[in-house]
Amino acid sequence: MVKLTGYKKVKAAVFISGTGSNLKSLIKFSKTKKSPISINLIISNNPKAKGLKLGKINKIKKKVFNFKKNYKIENRILFVLKEHEIKVILLAGFMKILSKNFITKFKGKILNIHPSLLPKYKGLNTHQKALNNYEKYAGCTVHFVNSKLDSGKIILQKKVKITKNETRDSLAKKVLIQEHKLYPKAILKVFNL
Ligand code: GAR
Repeated sequence: MVKLTGYKKVKAAVFISGTGSNLKSLIKFSKTKKSPISINLIISNNPKAKGLKLGKINKIKKKVFNFKKNYKIENRILFVLKEHEIKVILLAGFMKILSKNFITKFKGKILNIHPSLLPKYKGLNTHQKALNNYEKYAGCTVHFVNSKLDSGKIILQKKVKITKNETRDSLAKKVLIQEHKLYPKAILKVFNL
């Protein structure tokens, strides 16, 4: 559990790799009075991530790191996070796996959103996997990050019904709409609000 001190918002960094629609909804949420967090930094492994544009629009600092040299890069990220007094990390469509060492340094302070009803369908292609298994429901999960992929303690989940003729893309769209609502709710829950 993350504790709020006084009336100041806790500084968060959002890690992205692509479109950044979750980042967009998190920025919107962070600007509301009820939000316990402010977003002070956007980090990406992908210089072409569309979501990076949201940094400029919202005057949030952004940094791109080349993950090919993994170990040293994580140390540099940790340095930058410290520099910006970041206390919480929100993974939002971040497609790189963070090392155990990195996660330990931010223990209990890293959240992730995953497009499935965990523990089902960890990893990639979650929607196709759900369709292949003739699931009745799909959904999304916000969870704490631990050193095992998509396995940390679940904070909140939202189910969506899989309809007849559902495709991977139609399901992804439906789930994404729920993701945008679920992540802010999960943050409020983590802060006991
Ligand atoms: C989201 O559906 C998110 O749950 C998923 O990537 C998408 C990012 O969309 N994350 C993962 O699959 C992580 N394993 P966005 O860039 O528009 O937020």
